[in-house]
Amino acid sequence: MTDVQRVDPADPDARVIAHAAELLRAGRVVAFPTETVYGLGAHALDRAAILKVFAAKERPANDPLIVHVATLDAATPLVEDIPPVARLLAARFWPGPLTMVLKRSAQVPDEVTAGLATVAIRVPSHPVARALLEEARIPVAAPSANLFSRPSPTRAAHVLADLNGRIDLIVDGGATEVGLESTVIDLSGRVPTILRPGAIDLDALRQVIPDVISGRAAGSPTAAMASPGMLPKHYSPRTPVLLYEGDRESALVQMKRDTEQRISRGESIVVLSYTEDVTELRNLGVRILDLAPESNPVAVAARLYAALRECDELGAAAILVRTITTRHPLTGAIQDRLRRAATVATPDT
Ligand code: TXA
Ligand code: MG
Repeated sequence: MTDVQRVDPADPDARVIAHAAELLRAGRVVAFPTETVYGLGAHALDRAAILKVFAAKERPANDPLIVHVATLDAATPLVEDIPPVARLLAARFWPGPLTMVLKRSAQVPDEVTAGLATVAIRVPSHPVARALLEEARIPVAAPSANLFSRPSPTRAAHVLADLNGRIDLIVDGGATEVGLESTVIDLSGRVPTILRPGAIDLDALRQVIPDVISGRAAGSPTAAMASPGMLPKHYSPRTPVLLYEGDRESALVQMKRDTEQRISRGESIVVLSYTEDVTELRNLGVRILDLAPESNPVAVAARLYAALRECDELGAAAILVRTITTRHPLTGAIQDRLRRAATVATPDT
């Protein structure tokens, strides 16, 4: 059985944090909230502890983990050096939802980096994560606390649904704020490159490092090799997802046409809908799950993974969803996660 301890996310109980930190130091596995998603933490310098994380998640060993530390200084022993760009980015965005890939030191076990010459480092801002890292005084490797290929957990209940009995403790700090995983930027090469889009977008990064580029589109072979977690089928519910891309009008027309055809064939489907589309879709008599207003990308990001899990539980044959079109820093990251969850819909004519 997995122990679940509830804490006030803004002011976590010191006894729970001390207990969780003690477990981590002892090589046990603890799930905890960050501002992005829940992480599954283990002592980053303890190989046996790291192997427990891979086993609990059923994660392939070639997918490296992010190491979480309390401060930039705490990362010093883990990396070859801290380049000036990393200092600039840390000053602007840490603590926060940015992960930097740097050249690793010999201290970091191969199990953490999947044998790569680099290591991914993040200083999270969530008060529970911060308290835990400060108390544990060790680097904590933490992938998202989901079973491999399931949507990342944004609530303790999601962690429990995937990992109950497989891990020692879940520190329950309620729903996470951002809802999508951190931006991953590779600083180990000549050109700073975004490997995974997140809440800190290209424009924000450009203001600090103008030469930053975004990596290839999700799912391209090159991207998949640079960051194995970028494999297209990585954030998916079990139910097939049909994604309608392009502008609102044409995507909606296509989605409505497919909905009617599938209903007439007797298929059980669910539409994951923006609030603005609900009335129009309801007329078709299809099951609808209200995601959030398209005009509010912050709410869409925060609810996306929970909504995908809810859709999954309905046991439908397919989930239909339209991409987000609002202009906002989160748009690229939301579009990216929808694309990974989906097999892009081919016109159903
Ligand atoms: O927001 C987040 O980043 C969350 C929370 C818990 O911090 N963590 C998270 O971890 O999303 P995970 O393991 O689900 O995703 C880590 C991503 C993967 O895409 C992985 O391939 C990439 O970071 N990554 C890790 N180390 C890397 C490295 N050395 N080089 C390139 N990519 C790396
Ligand atoms: Mg993950």
